[in-house]
Amino acid sequence: MKILNTTALGAIAFSFAAFAAHAGDPEAGASAFTSQCQNCHNVINEAGDVLAGRPNVRTGPNLYSVIGRQAGIIDGFRYGASLVEAGEAGLVWTEEDMVPYLLDPNTYLREALDDRRARSQMSFRVRDEDTARDIIAFLVSLAPEAEDEEDEAAATN
Ligand code: HEC
Repeated sequence: MKILNTTALGAIAFSFAAFAAHAGDPEAGASAFTSQCQNCHNVINEAGDVLAGRPNVRTGPNLYSVIGRQAGIIDGFRYGASLVEAGEAGLVWTEEDMVPYLLDPNTYLREALDDRRARSQMSFRVRDEDTARDIIAFLVSLAPEAEDEEDEAAATN
């Protein structure tokens, strides 16, 4: 019986861990964005509304609607060659891909391009995976799909 119980507990702990690994908290992500990303990035929608960060920050590209977008394609931003190459080779940002990118952009690009000389122009790393997931959840919450859902909710109220 004892063995059975331990196994059952293990299974519960395992499924909980798997679940926990996917849940990003957009509110925690908002404050992490403020402290870690907004020195270089902002989030500005097509109408020009500043959804996060400050208006005139141009060190990094605008992160509006970045999930689901090909890497390295914001008009007028001077990306590094490796990120552009990864985008042209088919890199479209997903929530899952962005986690290792944020933890280590150079290694991510080296692996994506299978080129150990690939380099990222982003000289910043998020220290832990949970924070990366929170920030990604925050970016998703500012994307147009999320805004549309809010509009629909408002329209039916
Ligand atoms: C020190 C400045 C700096 C900081 C801090 C920084 N970034 Fe960046 N980021 C950049 C630069 C520069 C690029 C362009 C990278 C390249 O061209 O290789 C970039 C690129 C990106 C991209 C790819 C965008 C695209 O259009 O493909 C994402 C996503 C991103 N950053 C997210 C973040 C997030 C989230 C944070 C906060 C945790 C952050 N960055 C912090 C400078 C920064």
